[in-house]
Amino acid sequence: MNKELLEFLDHSHTCFHAVNNVREVLKKNDYEELREGETWSLKEDGKYFVVRNESSVISFRVNKKDFNGFMIASSHSDSPCFKVKENPEIVQNGYTKLNVEGYGGMLMGPWLDRPLSVAGRLIVRRNGKFETVLVDVDRDLLLIPNLAIHMNREANNGVKWNGQIDMLPVLGDESAKGTFMKIVAESAGVKEEDIIGHDLFLYPREKGVIWGSNNEFVSCGRLDDLQCCFGDLNGYLNATKSDSIPVLAIFDNEEVGSRTKQGADSTFLYDVLKRICDGLGKDYYAAVASSFMVSADNAHAIHPNHPEKADPINRPAMNKGIVIKYNANQSYTTDGVSAAIFKDICASVDVPVQCFTNRSDERGGSTLGNIANAHVSLNTVDIGLAQLAMHSPFETCGAKDTEYLAKAMEAFFSKSFIEEGQGNYYLK
Ligand code: CO
Repeated sequence: MNKELLEFLDHSHTCFHAVNNVREVLKKNDYEELREGETWSLKEDGKYFVVRNESSVISFRVNKKDFNGFMIASSHSDSPCFKVKENPEIVQNGYTKLNVEGYGGMLMGPWLDRPLSVAGRLIVRRNGKFETVLVDVDRDLLLIPNLAIHMNREANNGVKWNGQIDMLPVLGDESAKGTFMKIVAESAGVKEEDIIGHDLFLYPREKGVIWGSNNEFVSCGRLDDLQCCFGDLNGYLNATKSDSIPVLAIFDNEEVGSRTKQGADSTFLYDVLKRICDGLGKDYYAAVASSFMVSADNAHAIHPNHPEKADPINRPAMNKGIVIKYNANQSYTTDGVSAAIFKDICASVDVPVQCFTNRSDERGGSTLGNIANAHVSLNTVDIGLAQLAMHSPFETCGAKDTEYLAKAMEAFFSKSFIEEGQGNYYLK
C-alpha cells in the first residue's frame, strides 16, 4: 500500500490536486458528482460526492433510504507551505525572486537549499466564463538559499527565520524578470493574459521514499494529512453495506484554523448531511444522534533524539498502530465513549491502537474534530498515524500504519452506531 500512498502524495502537491485525485478515484468507482447549486435526487444504492472550492470533498453512499445514521471519517487536504503573493516577482541585486508568504504553521528550515516547484489553481477567462485550471509546473524551478556559515556563525545555535527576508525563493537572474507567470501559463496550457486569478503554492521536488534497514519508514511531504485521507478513502471504498450511510469528508484549511467556506468550521458537512436527510425523508436530528465520526489527523511519534518531549507513558511509535488522541481540555474530541467504540472497531480486525496525550506542561496542537462538532455535534474520536517532523516539507511515518488505518476504517464504514439512551450504545 505504501507505493500507492506515495503515488497519491507525489500527485497531490496542493489541496486542489489532492481533492481532484480523490475525485478521479471516486469517479472510477462509479460515484456520481453532485453540484451544490442544483437540487439533488438521491437514490437507494446511489454513490455520490460533492466538491466545494475544488479543495474540500464529501462523499457518501445511500445504503438504504431508511438509514440509521452517518458513519463519518474526516481528514484534511491542506499542508503548511508557502503561497505565492500577487505581483510575485522581486528583481534585486542580480536576482529575480518570488514574493511568498507562509500558509500554516510550518518548519521553515527544511525548505532551504533544495529544488522547489510551484502548483495550484488558476482562474482563467474563457469564452466569457471563469474556469478553474489546475497547474503543476513539475520542474526544478526555484530554490531558497541558506546563508553560508561564514556569514552567520550563530547558525548552529538556533536561527530565527524571517518570512519576508529569509524565505524568498530565487527564480533566476535578472533575465528571469517577467517569466514566472509565463512559465505557469505554459505548463497549464493557457494564455498568460487569460489568467485572472491564482492560488499557487511552493512544494519541494523530492519524491517520497521508503527507507530503513527493513524498509520500515516512509518519508514524503504532506503526510499530514494526506496519509489519513488515503487510508480513510481506501477503507471507505472497501467497506460492506450497513444500515448507516458512510461519509468520507476531506476538508481544506485545517492548517489555518478551518474558518473558510470549505473548512471544517463551515457549514459544508451540515449542509450535505441535512440534504441527505431531507432528500431521503429522514429526521436529521435522529440521524445525527445515531452517528459517529472519526476525525483522522496525524499524531506525533516519540522522537528518537528527543524522547523527553513525549508524555512519560503515552508515547506513540511508528508501525505500532493507530493513535487515539486524548486531551483533558478537549482540543481533541476523544472521550470515554468514543475511545471505547473506536478501540472495539480496531480490535474486531486486529488493528493495534496506542494513545497520545501531550505532556501536561505542553499545550500541543488541535485538529478539525471539535471544530466540525460545533456545526454537527456527534460522538467523535480523534485519531491519527504516528509520524516524525510534523509540518516539515519532508515528514516520516511508519510503513505499516496506512494499512492499519485502511483496515480499521473499512470495518468502521461497515458498521452502524446505535444510541439507546442513558449512556448506552452498541455497534451493529
Ligand atoms: Co494535520
